[in-house]
Amino acid sequence: MVDVKLRGLVKRFGKTVALRGIDLDIRDGEFIVLLGPSGCGKTTTLRIIAGLEKPDEGRVLFGDKDVTYLPPKDRNVSMVFQSYAVWPHMKVRDNIAFPLKIRGVPQEEIEKRVKWAAQLLQIDELLDRYPHQLSGGQRQRVAVARAIVIEPDVLLMDEPLSNLDALLRVKMRSELKKLQRRIGVTTIYVTHDQVEAMTMGDRIAVMNAGKIQQVGTPEEIYLKPANTFVAGFVGSPQMNFFDATVKLNEEKLLDAGEFTIPLTDDLAKLLQDYNGKTVIVGIRPEYMYPKELAPKNLVGPEIKGVIDFVEALGSDTIIHLRVGDKHLVVKLSGSHHYRIGEELTVVFGLDKIHIFDKNTGKAII
Ligand SMILES: Nc1ncnc2c1ncn2[C@@H]1O[C@H](COP(=O)(O)OP(=O)(O)OP(=O)(O)O)[C@@H](O)[C@H]1O
Ligand SMILES: [Mg+2]
Repeated sequence: MVDVKLRGLVKRFGKTVALRGIDLDIRDGEFIVLLGPSGCGKTTTLRIIAGLEKPDEGRVLFGDKDVTYLPPKDRNVSMVFQSYAVWPHMKVRDNIAFPLKIRGVPQEEIEKRVKWAAQLLQIDELLDRYPHQLSGGQRQRVAVARAIVIEPDVLLMDEPLSNLDALLRVKMRSELKKLQRRIGVTTIYVTHDQVEAMTMGDRIAVMNAGKIQQVGTPEEIYLKPANTFVAGFVGSPQMNFFDATVKLNEEKLLDAGEFTIPLTDDLAKLLQDYNGKTVIVGIRPEYMYPKELAPKNLVGPEIKGVIDFVEALGSDTIIHLRVGDKHLVVKLSGSHHYRIGEELTVVFGLDKIHIFDKNTGKAII
């Protein structure tokens, strides 16, 4: 086992800058998730950690050892890819044994380790089958067994569950997480699925456009997003954003045009450099309520709008509200009978708002 440090990684492919300075410390035994949209540099980061790609600048450290220019075979790293690359002409047993064979591990030891990995992944009954005789989920287990059989210092997984159907994906998420806990291997897991990231990661590194935007526990990322990108990327439906002007001269408030948000003294103090300026206000859909359903002690403004659209999902009801030029989304749990065209007054608590600098996108509150 080992901790992994990424220091100032820059990677260019011709004119494309895939990574623009990635710094990240991954603790020994940690399960960290790289989360971000397509093309943000997740796979490139993994490939540099694996040694399949060299950075143009920066370093990769395993413990105190600089491995930046070490070939993959000398790193004791395993990688599981999105397309579960199991070899079709080899039985499951031989697929799993392969990385041990090329390392020259004695036959007796190979058998022991294959059995260990197969039992952990619950595929010991399938060892004499060929990959075409397996389901997608079973093939993916073979790929994971083959990755852990060498007892890697670092396990890298690149969207390993994206080829599975929704139900199996949920099952495999918890199984992979449990497996990782059991063997304690430092794991870097790539996904663009925020639910996967939130449920699996000890910590999440949110990436965008070749940069890390924020690193934190799932809770920190959700409750204290560092900027508008993270706030908008994590959470479904997306956080509501709207512009408002900070007014601190007489009554202290945020003026959003169609409505105003009164500021407590504490909030006003945090915003004193922004007097007269426009900021971005964010509020998550699950913290907006129709007035009649609001928690009793909630303190915040009332906003009147017209219902544009209702998504009745059974477990949740999502209301799209038009308030002048603004479009606000309200998420309620359970079913509710709100109709398109109805007027609705919604409220939210002042303690739930986020405020971002309009120029930098950085969180002020
Ligand atoms: N071999 C390559 N040659 C040229 N450009 C590349 C190469 N590999 C990656 N890129 C570019 O680098 C950027 C980052 O790619 P990367 O594969 O790391 O993204 P990603 O976050 O894994 O995306 P996805 O979620 O779609 O897999 C993209 O703009 C991509 O087009
Ligand atoms: Mg990728």
